[in-house]
Amino acid sequence: MPEDSMDKPYIATCTAPVNIAVIKYWGKRNEELILPINSSLSVTLHQDQLKTTTTVATSRAFLEDRLWLNGKEEDITHPRLQSCLREIRRLARKRRNVGDPDSTDFAGLSHKVHICSVNNFPTAAGLASSAAGFACLVYSLAQVFGVEGELSGIARQGSGSACRSMYGGFVQWIMGNKDDGKDSLAQQVEPETHWPELRILVLVASAERKPIGSTSGMQTSVQTSCLLKHRAESVVPVRMEEMIEAVRRKDFSAFAELTMKDSNQFHATCFDTYPPIFYLNGVSQQVIHLVHRYNRHYGETRVAYSFDAGPNAVIFTLQQYVPEFVRVVQHFFPPDTNGEDFIKGLTVKRATLSEELKQSIGLEPIPKGINYIISTKAGPGPRVVEDPSQHLLSPDGLPKKTV
Ligand code: DP6
Repeated sequence: MPEDSMDKPYIATCTAPVNIAVIKYWGKRNEELILPINSSLSVTLHQDQLKTTTTVATSRAFLEDRLWLNGKEEDITHPRLQSCLREIRRLARKRRNVGDPDSTDFAGLSHKVHICSVNNFPTAAGLASSAAGFACLVYSLAQVFGVEGELSGIARQGSGSACRSMYGGFVQWIMGNKDDGKDSLAQQVEPETHWPELRILVLVASAERKPIGSTSGMQTSVQTSCLLKHRAESVVPVRMEEMIEAVRRKDFSAFAELTMKDSNQFHATCFDTYPPIFYLNGVSQQVIHLVHRYNRHYGETRVAYSFDAGPNAVIFTLQQYVPEFVRVVQHFFPPDTNGEDFIKGLTVKRATLSEELKQSIGLEPIPKGINYIISTKAGPGPRVVEDPSQHLLSPDGLPKKTV
């Protein structure tokens, strides 16, 4: 490399998706390596609606590692961030040692990194921002350092659920048995094209920060909940097999019932934690009743809910039921305006509700209980952004004014 280009940063920008678990991960057997007590399975959401974008740059001119998240400079010494950086550098060094001459083309390994990351959705709103964030960080670092291949084991060390965001479609995180975690990896079960009719609606109940973070919440659950132990040992292994089957066969009612039961059991383990943890609120409860009454009205399972460590409901349904179900949500959670703003993402056709359906659901409406709905579907895994004008860092290594 010519001497004068050595001061120019190596730069890469990537995007990564959010994922929603339908068989939940809750509890670690190794805190440092982030090894789970059970396997889990998720659906990767489409990046057109929900994504993290990250630019990573390395340059001889940088004096220290620096990080900007959603426009604010943050501490880069966080141990999980450091684990991801260390592991990517280790892989890059290994690749160089096995004699790939191309990988020595840049001297980036000893250089400092600048990282700039933004979400197109509210951080810490219970929308798994850490999963998309760490997946994007690891994918972008790998680009800059010229590392290829299996990266979910590194993303896992940033945040457990992040390993599943390294793939599109339907993804399982196999818990593994080894003490060093080498076999605790994510794997695609089916690609995003497998089930095109599947739709996902994120019902944003609150954009506030969650009361207890997943990391400390699951720690207390492991220490105190005997229901969690039973769940991990006896319930999840069977459910994983059933869920993979349901996805492969595109059997919506089997998929939906397992999804709801698993979300409910996860929240039951939270209540079984001592002192108990509550992530659901009154709005979440109303959504649960609404879904069951809607399904009962039709005598079949057309809609399912799932909740993570926060009150937002994630609804799974099929394309043909979306317009009516959205109207149902709008009726039982009347928004401020009768507005277009209520539904973001994929266009939803207008539908009318029958009096019969409203009566058979028969719940008392909660005005403004839901801020808005994001309508989306399953989507692909992380992507490289080729267009240099999309970099979040300028050539001097500082965030662009627009970030
Ligand atoms: C309820 O992956 O955020 O969303 O590994 O400590 O970073 P850490 O936890 P995190 O936990 C996610 C828990 C969950 C269920 C799931 O996504 O499987």
